[in-house]
Amino acid sequence: MIQEFISIEQSGPLQGAVELTGAKNAVLVIIASLILTHGKSRLTNVPRSDDVLQMIALLESLGATATFHETIHVLEVDTSHINSWKVSPDIMKKMRASILVMGPLLARFGHADIALPGGCVIGTRPIDYHLKNFEKMGVEIQQQSHFLTTSAPQLRAARIILEYPSVGATENIMMAATLTQGTTQIINAALEPEVLDLVDILQAMGAKITIQAPATIVIEGVTQLHPVQHQIIPDRLEAGALLLAAAITGGSIKLPTARADHMDVFLLKLQEMGHTIVRGDNDRGISLFATKKPRAVSFKTAPYPGFPTDLQAPMLAAQCLAEGECVIEETVFENRLLHVRELQKMGAQITLEHNKAIIKGVEELYAAPVIATDIRASCALVLAGLVARGVTSMTGIHHWTRGYDALEKKLQTLGARIKVHKAQSVITNEFKVAENEWKSVVR
Ligand code: EPZ
Repeated sequence: MIQEFISIEQSGPLQGAVELTGAKNAVLVIIASLILTHGKSRLTNVPRSDDVLQMIALLESLGATATFHETIHVLEVDTSHINSWKVSPDIMKKMRASILVMGPLLARFGHADIALPGGCVIGTRPIDYHLKNFEKMGVEIQQQSHFLTTSAPQLRAARIILEYPSVGATENIMMAATLTQGTTQIINAALEPEVLDLVDILQAMGAKITIQAPATIVIEGVTQLHPVQHQIIPDRLEAGALLLAAAITGGSIKLPTARADHMDVFLLKLQEMGHTIVRGDNDRGISLFATKKPRAVSFKTAPYPGFPTDLQAPMLAAQCLAEGECVIEETVFENRLLHVRELQKMGAQITLEHNKAIIKGVEELYAAPVIATDIRASCALVLAGLVARGVTSMTGIHHWTRGYDALEKKLQTLGARIKVHKAQSVITNEFKVAENEWKSVVR
């Protein structure tokens, strides 16, 4: 079988405007949250990525019915007939975010049978913060091998202290607490924009949630939540990728739907590099005008509002061609610098010290066959390919299609010479459809 790959040619300065699709890391948990309701909800600005299709399939496996109008990014889900709390292990294995149905299932049924999601290349990705805090809420957990049978005849409100502001643990506990009698507090909660988008839709469903400084989420349990309509926030990670594509190629870009207030630290770093950033009124919209001589800037990743770990790899790629030297430290995941090895193949001057990358800017990168190791690494390699001399070929493209909604098409509209080469079997399918249509015409 022909291997699937993405080819990226050296492209001139990218120019133009792009509308963002909805945030992957908001829509996945928001689809899971619909389990808390009985009825038909409607989500708009839903990205069409493989992970989203997986989460839809998961809900359908539990008894929900869903209609995804992909071309207009509208998803309708009817959760009236959800009648199972057993999540199939192969779905859990395919997508770690499946763990996010645990809280809603416990709230709806008092049960959730799941498999341990397992780690990935960027880290072991444990779920201990989820499990030990669910136990504090009265959940009994039995483990056989990597299968977990969890039950809570009566969920208990609790004062939950997160030792680390885990996004998933915050979301899971909060969703369970919305239908748990009493007051649950989550201290040291994650407050990423995607978590706040979940708070928005839960409140629209009828949940009683408030946020107290510095980072405490307070949930008053209610007896039921109702279906809603909700627009997913724009994807700040797609926005970051597009801004960096214009920056690394010395171009300019306008993102009219971007939320600048979701990206303050990242935008500050782009300005420190010498790029001009213009924020729209009320922080709606971002424009970037690239400098021709970017300066290298150091940063370390941190929970929101710090520099997002999901923009570390793409930003690291941009530093490879900046003037001077910088240090990038990854503090959120223990193994999220695998893209460094691939960038070195393209001529980047990087040395690694544990979770730190020390980068010396070079004049030029060279095309090479490279491998994407995770969603954000695939973005970093595409960005490097846009400026590398020659044609870069990147395999591991399932990461790209898992995390982004046809980002290559958006880049093409800006002038990028990038193409996704699908495996033979998919081309054959397209051919079969065309052949059948042809037959129906000539018959
Ligand atoms: C979410 O993952 C995102 N995924 C990740 O995006 C993102 O990188 C991450 O938050 C941090 O912002 C989704 O929203 C679907 P965490 P999550 O719990 O919830 C450790 C992408 O590329 N930890 O905040 O899994 C964990 O190992 C993906 O779009 C525990 O030790 O992240 C990590 O080191 C990648 N025990 C750190 O905390 C736990 O029980 C942060 O994890 C949970 C987490």
